Amino acid sequence: MINLRNILIALISIFSNVAHAQQKKARVLVLIHSDNGSTYELAKEFAKGLESSNQAEAIIKMVKKNEHAKLKEIPVATPNELSSYDGIAFGSPIYFGNMSTAMSEFLSKTVDLWTKHGLEGMPATVFMSAGSGAGKELAIQSIWNSLAVHGMVLVSNGIRGNEKIDVKIPQGNTVLGTTSLSSAKNVERPSESERYLIKLQGENFAKIALALKGTFFRSTVPLLENKTTVASTLEQKKITLPEVPQPAGNYKPYIRTGNLIFINQVALKDGKILNPGKLGKELNEQQVKEATRTTMLNVIAVLNEAVGGNLEQVKRCVQLTGIFNTPEGYTKHADLMNVASDLTVDVFGEKGKHARATFGASSIPVNSAVEIQAIFEID
Ligand SMILES: Cc1cc2nc3c(=O)[nH]c(=O)nc-3n(C[C@H](O)[C@H](O)[C@H](O)COP(=O)(O)O)c2cc1C
Repeated sequence: MINLRNILIALISIFSNVAHAQQKKARVLVLIHSDNGSTYELAKEFAKGLESSNQAEAIIKMVKKNEHAKLKEIPVATPNELSSYDGIAFGSPIYFGNMSTAMSEFLSKTVDLWTKHGLEGMPATVFMSAGSGAGKELAIQSIWNSLAVHGMVLVSNGIRGNEKIDVKIPQGNTVLGTTSLSSAKNVERPSESERYLIKLQGENFAKIALALKGTFFRSTVPLLENKTTVASTLEQKKITLPEVPQPAGNYKPYIRTGNLIFINQVALKDGKILNPGKLGKELNEQQVKEATRTTMLNVIAVLNEAVGGNLEQVKRCVQLTGIFNTPEGYTKHADLMNVASDLTVDVFGEKGKHARATFGASSIPVNSAVEIQAIFEID
């Protein structure tokens, strides 16, 4: 007869072995900026090398949202999350022998982390996509400078793998980290040799990240890990931001002036107006409320684009104005607009509290039941 107790013990032991094996893996953030996808190609190869010996797991994220077809699905990292990994690989295009502007902007937001020693002792490595390769070591060095100030353990490549690369064509090997010469089109880039080198870089980094896992400061002083972020709130509340609606005329989805962002949206959903018409004629209050939620989600999606996918940059919602397609004599605009206000506070917490105006109109463009005008302040 099958002994249920033994089966249970076996199952518990399998599950605990799996959990133990996962704990044993290093979690490595592959943090990139990419305009056209070459850096992302390197990141994917790095991740393959990193994961090849089952010692580490790669999490690829961008420093800034990019709507490029190859890049738009990649999540955006927040500076505060950096301290939660066992190692970080930084990937950037080279801009004038330097890191890219977006990478530099991201690193400039890590001052808080720096003063709290949040990255001290954590291993880091760098790879970059170049055009011709002009200034490639200088460019890697520019990222190293910032990482050295953070007290990170800088992992170089040396001449690892060089004996196996094809020296008949120019290659992006450097002693500091791999690059790819994306404008040297004699072969497809990254070339086979560049892919080989970046995989080796990943493989080597996995060993180091695992060896140093748990040895640095973060392990004894959990830093900012429990902080609620806008991204985690969206995830927790299962709020998915829609595609940013494209302008139907000679205007922009948003305008930034100074630290203020101005946005106007109607109830577009999947290219059509959700619940079009007038309250009391084609629509009841519930339908107008649905349209209001859709409109506010559009506003937040546009805001997300305006801040490069990093909603942590939002300092506050300054003002919301709701305009509703209502019949003469209607007075309960505030009830309708509460849907937008509540959603804003749900997403941004205290920072979402705003000044507000609401009013009725005899018609609204494209027969939307509602239009929302929003002003946000960002860092
Ligand atoms: C403003 C700017 C400056 C650049 N400077 C350099 C440079 O100094 N050296 C170089 O090799 N490539 C340079 N490039 C080329 C990019 O590094 C190259 O196209 C890279 O592959 C882009 O990566 P991505 O496809 O991930 O965006 C520059 C590109 C831009 C836009």
